[in-house]
Amino acid sequence: EHEVKCLSIIVLGASGDLAKKKTFPALFHLFQQGFLQENDVHIFGYARTKLSDDDLRERIRGYLSHKSSSGQTEVLSRFLQLIKYVSGSYDSEDGFQLLNKEISEHEISKNSQPGTSRRLFYLALPPSVYPSVCRMIRRYCMNQSDLGGWTRIVVEKPFGKDLKSAEDLSAQLGELFDEQQLYRIDHYLGKELVQNLLVVRFANRFFLPLWNRDNIDNIQIVFREDFGTEGRGGYFDEYGIIRDIIQNHLLQVLCLVAMEKPVSLKPEHIRDEKVKVLQSVLPIKLEEVVLGQYEGYKDDSTVSDSSNTPTFATVILRIDNERWEGHNFHLLDLSMCKKQGRNELVIRLQPSEAMYMKLTVKKPGLEMSTIQSELDLSYGLRYQDVKIPEAYERLILDTIRGDQQHFVRRDELRVAWEIFTPLLHRIDAGQLEPISYKPGSRGPAEADELLAKAGYVQTHGY
Ligand code: BG6
Repeated sequence: EHEVKCLSIIVLGASGDLAKKKTFPALFHLFQQGFLQENDVHIFGYARTKLSDDDLRERIRGYLSHKSSSGQTEVLSRFLQLIKYVSGSYDSEDGFQLLNKEISEHEISKNSQPGTSRRLFYLALPPSVYPSVCRMIRRYCMNQSDLGGWTRIVVEKPFGKDLKSAEDLSAQLGELFDEQQLYRIDHYLGKELVQNLLVVRFANRFFLPLWNRDNIDNIQIVFREDFGTEGRGGYFDEYGIIRDIIQNHLLQVLCLVAMEKPVSLKPEHIRDEKVKVLQSVLPIKLEEVVLGQYEGYKDDSTVSDSSNTPTFATVILRIDNERWEGHNFHLLDLSMCKKQGRNELVIRLQPSEAMYMKLTVKKPGLEMSTIQSELDLSYGLRYQDVKIPEAYERLILDTIRGDQQHFVRRDELRVAWEIFTPLLHRIDAGQLEPISYKPGSRGPAEADELLAKAGYVQTHGY
């Protein structure tokens, strides 16, 4: 019997932005809360830049210490001591052999037989290098599951640019690793209120019979951001708002709002239902799409002068199944209603997590008249002492625990691309022009008109 204990977390792309802003802070928070134990965890940074262990530690310290409160310095120093750095390129045999040597030495120093320990590879890298990095990991850095060890790979979008490129990438990774070893992050699935959706839907008796086309007029999934490209223009211009946000984050939210009750809470059962609801989405009609591009977008020097990349989109999706047939989901934009006396359930993921239900009540006072009011669950007020975990923290912990519920399965990814690929190809071919709108506004007026045409009147502004 081998004791499987020692955990190595390898952050590839350790000197980059994602690692600095998301991965290392998430690891630090897990460490602070005792989820990563000094006596069995080691963290390896790997990247091309030539750095010493201390150089990397100081970079991370610089970022974390201005974020965390004083008094954390001691914990932070202990955390940084767990980090080692190995430099090498992403297709270098020598680099990955060296990385493996370092990890193995660490494992031996922890009295763990090489092969029996746990290795988590976090690819904080552009997807173009996923195949070569995965090939190197597969060849040089694997643990043997027959000895009780495991190797898990965390990757993050963009997973391709359309159905075909995503399928190619999936096939390449699929040749190297089993689906159980691949953790495709969509960080929206790690957000507190997203994780709450299934609980609210299925653990509250009064919602169960109401959650369908007979009682729900329409559902809007709205995402707004109040800043522009901010140095990411090169990336964004190639992808656009549909690939950056809608095809992944918002579609994941849609799945959780619209899916049927899973057979059990096992990750595979939940993911099966998500796939089914995506398969029920009808082809998008071009006349039910409004695209926008904010004024000044092309002033960004990394954006092409002739760019027709949308920075805004309203898309109506129709789900053709027994629960929803004939009912609409608006992705990205605006709350509307068409009936008087309706109730509205608002689930606000961010900022300021909240859930509230609008209802009609008697206006307090001597008069008998009615007003709209709210049953309000604002997390900041109700759970003042609870620190809501960062999405990445939770998802890394899930990876260590081997729970794939909040990760995107290969077939789920494929259907998500199937939904948006025809529209994206039209946009890429220049057949759909985005309409110009003012930054900070509600987007093009045409988006409101589209929803009005679909029969909704606006009740409150976002
Ligand atoms: C990322 C997108 O996936 O999500 C970014 O690439 C976007 O463009 C971000 O800003 C939004 O995430 P959050 O957690 O801030 O809503």
